[in-house]
Amino acid sequence: MSYTITPMTSHQTGAEIRGLDLTRPVDAELKTRLNRDFAKYHVLVFRDQKLSAAQFAAAGELFGPLHSQHHKDIRALGHPEVSEIRNTEVAPGKYMIAGESFHTDHSNHPCPPRATSLHTVTLPSRGGDTQFVNVHLAYDELPDEMKHRIEGLKAVHAFESRYTPRKMRELSPESRKALPPPAIHPLVRTHPDNGRKFLYMNPVRMDSILGMEDGAAMALLRELMAHATQQKYEYRHKWLMGDMVIWDNRSVMHQANGDYDMKEVRHLYRIMIQDDPALWTAEGEKTLAVMAA
Ligand code: OGA
Ligand code: MN
Repeated sequence: MSYTITPMTSHQTGAEIRGLDLTRPVDAELKTRLNRDFAKYHVLVFRDQKLSAAQFAAAGELFGPLHSQHHKDIRALGHPEVSEIRNTEVAPGKYMIAGESFHTDHSNHPCPPRATSLHTVTLPSRGGDTQFVNVHLAYDELPDEMKHRIEGLKAVHAFESRYTPRKMRELSPESRKALPPPAIHPLVRTHPDNGRKFLYMNPVRMDSILGMEDGAAMALLRELMAHATQQKYEYRHKWLMGDMVIWDNRSVMHQANGDYDMKEVRHLYRIMIQDDPALWTAEGEKTLAVMAA
């Protein structure tokens, strides 16, 4: 099997892949090529797929073993690592939209997922785009003074930051039990596959920066977020039925849009891909437990 790839922006953020049927076996050479393109474009859009939860899980495994999910109560039937996201009414007229401000997934884990993937089940007639911003480019274009200021800084990522711009979905008792303690991650990291530096930020989970007073830490985070979420760093994905989209949680931040008619259903399967724990260990302290020791 072979495929065509078309960049979706002029800045190598997002590429569309056509000509592949992910229900079919993928050989080692093709898998290597896909992973190379993934490291280059950070978001891959596979068009015209029709995958069951099991086939979607298998397609995700082309990029690595699957990562467990925070929310154990929204699993797809029979597939523990495939969850389902949809707009849900949590109170009369009030809807919960997962991911509705820029973030990177599960950054409170000691080894957060290298990637997340979504596959369409049902789409609203319009709206519900997903936005991605390239945090390699955002880092590259920081003034030298700012690069210098943030070099070596480390942030504490909790399940829900005291300063989060939006509430997280409630954890079920089973999900709460599986929650790891807060993690510590550098603000500037180097991508293991493409060698580029990037900003690693997540306002919903970043609770503090080590050695900084909270007010100053949050002001710095706001300044960096305003810079990193500029449209010039963005690929905005308009969903089509049959899309399987996979993004690199290190190279991009992403956000959902709850701008469609909530009487319509937006329903997607979701998986995450593990990162290599050795990479994170090498980058320094991982958990509060380490810090306290
Ligand atoms: C996610 C997420 C965005 C969307 O699944 O992690 O943030 O547009 N989704 O649904
Ligand atoms: Mn997300």
